[in-house]
Amino acid sequence: MLAIPASFPDDFLWGVSTSSHQFEGGNTLNQWHDWERAGRIRSGGGCGSACDWWQNAERDLDLCSHLGLNAIRISIEWSRMEPAFAHWSDSAVLRYRQIIREARRRGMRVFVSLHHFTHPRWFEARGGFLDAQAPELFRHYAKRAVRSLGDLVTDWVTFNEPNVYASFGYLFGEFPPGRLNELNSALSVFSGMMRAHAFAYDMLHREQPGTNVGLATNYVVFEPARDNVLDRQLVSAYDALFNRGALSYLLDEPIPLPFAMMAPSVPEVAGKIDFIGLNVYNRLHVRAPLGEKFGPGGLHVPGDVPQGDHGVAAAYGEAYPKVVSAAVAAYAPLGCPMYVMENGVPDREDRIRPWLLVNSLRELRHMWQQGYDVRGYFHWSLVDNFEWSEGWRLRFGLYSLDEATQQRIARPSAELYRQIIADKGIRRETLERYENAPA
Ligand code: BGC
Repeated sequence: MLAIPASFPDDFLWGVSTSSHQFEGGNTLNQWHDWERAGRIRSGGGCGSACDWWQNAERDLDLCSHLGLNAIRISIEWSRMEPAFAHWSDSAVLRYRQIIREARRRGMRVFVSLHHFTHPRWFEARGGFLDAQAPELFRHYAKRAVRSLGDLVTDWVTFNEPNVYASFGYLFGEFPPGRLNELNSALSVFSGMMRAHAFAYDMLHREQPGTNVGLATNYVVFEPARDNVLDRQLVSAYDALFNRGALSYLLDEPIPLPFAMMAPSVPEVAGKIDFIGLNVYNRLHVRAPLGEKFGPGGLHVPGDVPQGDHGVAAAYGEAYPKVVSAAVAAYAPLGCPMYVMENGVPDREDRIRPWLLVNSLRELRHMWQQGYDVRGYFHWSLVDNFEWSEGWRLRFGLYSLDEATQQRIARPSAELYRQIIADKGIRRETLERYENAPA
C-alpha cells in the first residue's frame, strides 16, 4: 500500500474546465466573432475551429477518461441556443445533449456554465448587461437551458467571472465592447450580471428542485509594488472591487467606499448561491499610476517571478499557488461548498505547470484539512484553447493542440495529473520534486 501523504477525500471532484467559444469552433453569432473580425486578436485570426468540439468533443472526452476525471465543466453558447431574439435552436440543444451524455457515460459529473464571456450579437446590440432588460432576457435563456438539459445537468454556473467580464470590457478595453476607464459602466454591468444571476437562480430552482446554482469568480492576490500609501490604497481598491465585489453582493454587505456611491444595489441576489467557483491563477503587483485616473494602470508583473508563456504584448501574470488558499479563505463566509473551478498556467514547454499543479493542489488540500468546504479541482485546461484577445499565443493545455491538424500530444503534466487522480493524492516524492519553482 502506497503512503500518500497529501490525500484527498473519496468524493473529491477531479476535473477540467472548458468554455464554448474557446473549444467548440465555428461560433459566428456572438459578439466575440465581431471582435475577432475587427482584428482585435493580438496573435491574429480568431477562434476558427478552436478544438473542434462542435464536430468532435468526444475525442477530448476520451482524453478525460484516460486522465480518470470524474467531473468536467463546459459552457453552453447562448448564441447557438438563441441565435436570434426569441428564436430557439433545437439542433443546438441536440448537440449539447449528446456532448453532456457522452461525458456522463464516461463517469463525469457535468457542470454547465450559461455565460462564459460570450453572448448573441443581438444581445450585445441592445447594450449587453447595460440593458435594463438583460436580467429578464438571461432568465428566459436559463429557463430554456434547464428545460432542455435539466434531466442531464444539476450543477449550473450562471456566469463565468463577472469581474473579468466587466473590467476587461469596460475598464481595460481588452474584451468587447472595448471601453476604457468607464468605471460607472463597469459597475452597472457587474450589478446587471448579479441581478441576472439572481433571476436565473430563482428560475433554475423553480424548474428543478434540488438543483445547485453557483457562479465562478476570478480571484487575484494583489500586492503593493512599493511600501507606500498610494500603492496600498490601490491594492485595497482592486481587492474591494475585483476580488470582493461578488462576495459583497451575495452577502448583502455594502461595497466599500468610494464605490458604494456608484455601484447599483441588488438586494435580490443576497444569499442566492449554492456553491462558489474560484478561478485562481495569479498574483499581480500594484503600482499606483500617479496622475492617471483609476484605470488599466498600475498592474505589474515583475520579471523575476515564476511565469509561463509571455503574451504578445504583455506578461500574462505570476503563477502563484498561494492564490488558492487566499481565495478559499476570502469566500468561506458564504458558507457554501467551494470548487477551484479554474487553475492553470500558459506554458507551451510545460516548464512550470507541474510545479503549479502540485502546489495549487497542496494549498487546496491544506485548506480542506483546515476544515474549509472545498469539494473539487478543475484544471484549466485539457487542451490548448483559443485564449481571447491573446489568440493562440498562450498555451494552457495538459495536451498540446495543433489547430491545423487537430492533433493532440500529452504534455508531462497530463501524466502527473492522471497519477494524482489515480492516487487520490500527491505522493511524497512528487511533493519533494516540485517543492521549488523552476528557475
Ligand atoms: C477564463 C478563461 C481563460 C483563463 C486563462 C479565465 O479567466 O475564465 O476563459 O482561458 O482565464 O486565461
